[in-house]
Amino acid sequence: MMRPMKLAGSQLMFGEGCLEFLAQLDTKRASLVIGGHSMEKSGILDKVVKILEENKVEVSIIRDVEPDPSFKTVITGAKKMLEFEPDTIIALGGGSVMDAAKTMWVYYEHPELKTLEDILPPNDFPKLHIKAKFVCIPSTAGTASEVSRSVVISDENGMKHGIGNMEMMPDVAICDPLVTLSMPLATTADTGLDALTHALEAFASTRANYLSDILATQSAIDIINTLPKVFKNRNDVKLREIMLNASMVAGLAFTNVSLGIVHSMAHTVGSYFHVPHGLANAIILPYIIEFNSQNEVAKNKYDDFVKQLGKDKPLQNIIRDLNSQLNIPSNFSSVIKDRSLYLEKLDEMAECAKSDGCTKTNPIIPTIEQFKELFLLIFPEKGEC
Ligand SMILES: [Fe+2]
Repeated sequence: MMRPMKLAGSQLMFGEGCLEFLAQLDTKRASLVIGGHSMEKSGILDKVVKILEENKVEVSIIRDVEPDPSFKTVITGAKKMLEFEPDTIIALGGGSVMDAAKTMWVYYEHPELKTLEDILPPNDFPKLHIKAKFVCIPSTAGTASEVSRSVVISDENGMKHGIGNMEMMPDVAICDPLVTLSMPLATTADTGLDALTHALEAFASTRANYLSDILATQSAIDIINTLPKVFKNRNDVKLREIMLNASMVAGLAFTNVSLGIVHSMAHTVGSYFHVPHGLANAIILPYIIEFNSQNEVAKNKYDDFVKQLGKDKPLQNIIRDLNSQLNIPSNFSSVIKDRSLYLEKLDEMAECAKSDGCTKTNPIIPTIEQFKELFLLIFPEKGEC
């Protein structure tokens, strides 16, 4: 049975210059969550603070959210929020910043919650939007956390936990391509391919429907056609705008119909070997499209998509061509240094990927043995590929 679709929070802004929408927020006190220094260097942080302060908003900045944010960072940020008592939380940054800020929001709204397990199943997810509304300003075009109900937070052992609940859907998403201009090339490629993986996994999801297919198809076409151009013209605002919009639209699709085993395996190698999320997805994606093509429904959908794209080769080969244009390696051999440790962890990794929430909606649910074979396929012995 189809589940209800929710497309973003109450306000979704996109297009060049839409950052100015911040002036219309009904807020008096805002906690602004950022990562490293990129938003400072690009001048965007100053611009955001200026717009807010000109509108008599008191701003408190929570800095230094790290990539793959930890629960410790979440609790530290939530404590600062409890002291400042914001009526609005603004996340300015990439997926890690948005995910960390969303999770800080949970523990700010509910200081009685103490551990990460408190919000993991089987515990009930708490109600949000009581003390504060939540605003996202993405600085990358990829994770779509600005329109998603999910976060990924690492526990004290570095294991990543994907948590999804519609309570965490941001109230306002401000997707201004000018904010993404400072993104380095490698991040542009990795995050853009994360967005493409969102689109293609939502498209093949066993929960896909008429509306999610429209969103997923168009965003995937736009990303495939635009990403190589952005890679050559990183300062082209129009191209950045297409990528940011496409990433957001792919997010609208996947947050409703979920993903597949590219994400399950990427979360796993992210936890065990700290492979960046977008890069892991990009490497794994063509292998899984090939694997999923054993399922007739998925194969027909992929073939149909290729026709809409105006190409005439298997989708996995289109992705391989795209990856090579973006300097993405064809397997993990240059990304994970210790193959013997990878082999040692194979059983654990297969279990981890199998139990990942994204596995449930893949066209084929692999057995543990199949997961092990897939992990081996993506990290062949030298000279095997
Ligand atoms: Fe992703």
